[in-house]
Amino acid sequence: MKVVVTGANGQLGADVVSYFRAQGNEVIPFTHADLDITDTDAVTKAIMSVKPDVVINTAAYHHVEHCENNPDIARAVNATAVGFLAQLGAKENFRLIHISTDYVFDGEKKAPYVETDAVNPLNVYGQTKAEGEKLVIAASPNHAVVRISAIYGTEPCRAKGGMNFIKLMLKLAKEKDQLQVVNNEFVSPTNTLAIAAQLYKIAATPNATGILHSTSEGQCSWYEFAMEIFKLTHTKIDVVPVEAANFSKIKRPGYSVLENARLKELGINQMPHWKESLQDYLKVIT
Ligand SMILES: NC(=O)c1ccc[n+]([C@@H]2O[C@H](COP(=O)([O-])OP(=O)(O)OC[C@H]3O[C@@H](n4cnc5c(N)ncnc54)[C@H](OP(=O)(O)O)[C@@H]3O)[C@@H](O)[C@H]2O)c1
Repeated sequence: MKVVVTGANGQLGADVVSYFRAQGNEVIPFTHADLDITDTDAVTKAIMSVKPDVVINTAAYHHVEHCENNPDIARAVNATAVGFLAQLGAKENFRLIHISTDYVFDGEKKAPYVETDAVNPLNVYGQTKAEGEKLVIAASPNHAVVRISAIYGTEPCRAKGGMNFIKLMLKLAKEKDQLQVVNNEFVSPTNTLAIAAQLYKIAATPNATGILHSTSEGQCSWYEFAMEIFKLTHTKIDVVPVEAANFSKIKRPGYSVLENARLKELGINQMPHWKESLQDYLKVIT
């Protein structure tokens, strides 16, 4: 497979590049500096020169506060540019695998969301990602939208100042005697390496199309996630469960756990439990 990866030096993009390469694929990575996905002429030129089989779009403007303050940039990157890529794929016969988010949901279901559940985003980030999803699905029945959640990897998350939740907890535990951690938002923390491997399976499965959820099995609040990190690393720290409103005024879903229903129907779900992925990750970083 000839595969283009956008956002190639991002937290997820870097793992996608190395995983697909390790499987023997020809991978052409584009960082933001190489290719701005909102520049339609540059996108057309870059993609036409490569003629890929698959484009994996991990690029996004996804810092929730920045999106709220700059909705035009958020829409340009997360929706308009994605729609253009999807149309180009339909015209030039490449498959777009586009990365989306659990933040397209409002959290009111209070049970794991499946792919057919209606979206109802609460903030600009979620709204623009939901708009991007619609444009991908409308452009071609061969494209895929892969929703992921609460990700962490060995590469820094560029939009979040380089920190992921695990590294932040371990850093703060060294600096403070007590930590406050949100206990009213439930997610499925997911390792980017597991997502990269699942994306490879999706790319290799022609009928893995439309919306697909691809997160770890199981669920926890951020507080429960932190407690598991501290347990596994034998870190002694006083952790106080608090409400999300203590940290940010921007609305976020209180429950955005995703069920990988379509991957299971297709017989290609290989996402591990979040506790298993966490153990593997801690072995690598500690
Ligand atoms: N992080 C999470 O917890 C999370 C949860 C759910 C879904 N997601 C989704 O997962 C995907 C990957 O996130 P990540 O954590 O890997 O983020 P990341 O580390 O911030 O990577 C995003 C990449 O996109 C690039 N980018 C931003 N604007 C661009 C543009 N206009 N043109 C080309 N590239 C651009 C960034 O480059 P620069 O930094 O140089 O601008 C960066 O390389 C995104 O689609 C995000 O919405 C993330």
